[in-house]
Amino acid sequence: METVVSGIRSTGNLHLGNYFGAIRNFIKMQHEHRCFFFIADLHALTTHPKADQFRQSVRNVLVEYLAAGLDPEVSTLYIQSDVPEISELYLLMNMVAYVGELERCTSFKEKIRKHPDNINAGLLTYPVLMAADIIIHKATKVPVGKDQEQHLEMARNFANRFNHLYEKDVFPEPYAYNFGNQLVKVPGLDGSGKMGKSEGEGNAIFLADSPEVIRKKVMRAVTDSGPTEPGQTKPESISNLFQLMNLVSSADTIAFFEERWNACDIRYGDMKKQLAEDMILFTHPLRERIADIQKDDDLLNRVIRQGAEKARESASKTLHEVRTVIGLNR
Ligand code: TRP
Repeated sequence: METVVSGIRSTGNLHLGNYFGAIRNFIKMQHEHRCFFFIADLHALTTHPKADQFRQSVRNVLVEYLAAGLDPEVSTLYIQSDVPEISELYLLMNMVAYVGELERCTSFKEKIRKHPDNINAGLLTYPVLMAADIIIHKATKVPVGKDQEQHLEMARNFANRFNHLYEKDVFPEPYAYNFGNQLVKVPGLDGSGKMGKSEGEGNAIFLADSPEVIRKKVMRAVTDSGPTEPGQTKPESISNLFQLMNLVSSADTIAFFEERWNACDIRYGDMKKQLAEDMILFTHPLRERIADIQKDDDLLNRVIRQGAEKARESASKTLHEVRTVIGLNR
């Protein structure tokens, strides 16, 4: 059994791409390892969100992860800012993070390019906070996508540098945990590749979308003018719909539309109608659970409180060790 930590972005609703990707892996991992999942609200402050909206979105994200099946009794589910030990470790780790390496970080350079008017020190030290998130629980596994590899490499550097400086093996090395080919591909509806890749209105189906919204989005999905030769291979423009169908529809339905495609008499309108109805059925229980949990303030408050308690128990042990090693404990 290893220790797993993953941070969840505190904004944005969950879509089917998240559901078949990260979330299903979290749910599986929680039974195999000692797991810590948290909502990275402190990281979000780099973009200066408005307080009311911010509070609401953190709560929403928590609701949706609970609805999707993260079990707060099995894993530790908490909000980053509820664990002050993380912030203290972040401060201490800043002393072994060099400005040069932080400035060379790809995600920082990207932020400078996109938001030249708000290049704050929180952005620069984002990787230090992320490292603190992970090493505070001495985690070795971090289930994240390719875009986070560099941050993890930096976390390993900071951890090793700390160990070296104080000549103590306090932190193990954390590594990105990729599920590789176990991951199913969930395409977006607007033909832009992965679901969630583009911010376009019609690209993603969210777990909380109403049936009407799902129908609208699916009917507007990008298609082509149809096959011209029997049995030809599907171009990207239409394989999207088939891939989505594979995730939510029955084997009979899939076989039916495959046959229609191969015989060149497929009607995309019919296929979309069927796909929309199957998506509505598939997401129905999730939508219900989201609505139920959303209303249950007692449950949410209990989850938040228990999560913070469990996370702080683990975090304070590490922080105590760190303070002792540095010479801060008298
Ligand atoms: N940087 C991650 C993202 O953008 C979120 C994150 C913050 C995280 N702290 C983390 C992920 C710690 C894994 C571990 O998705």
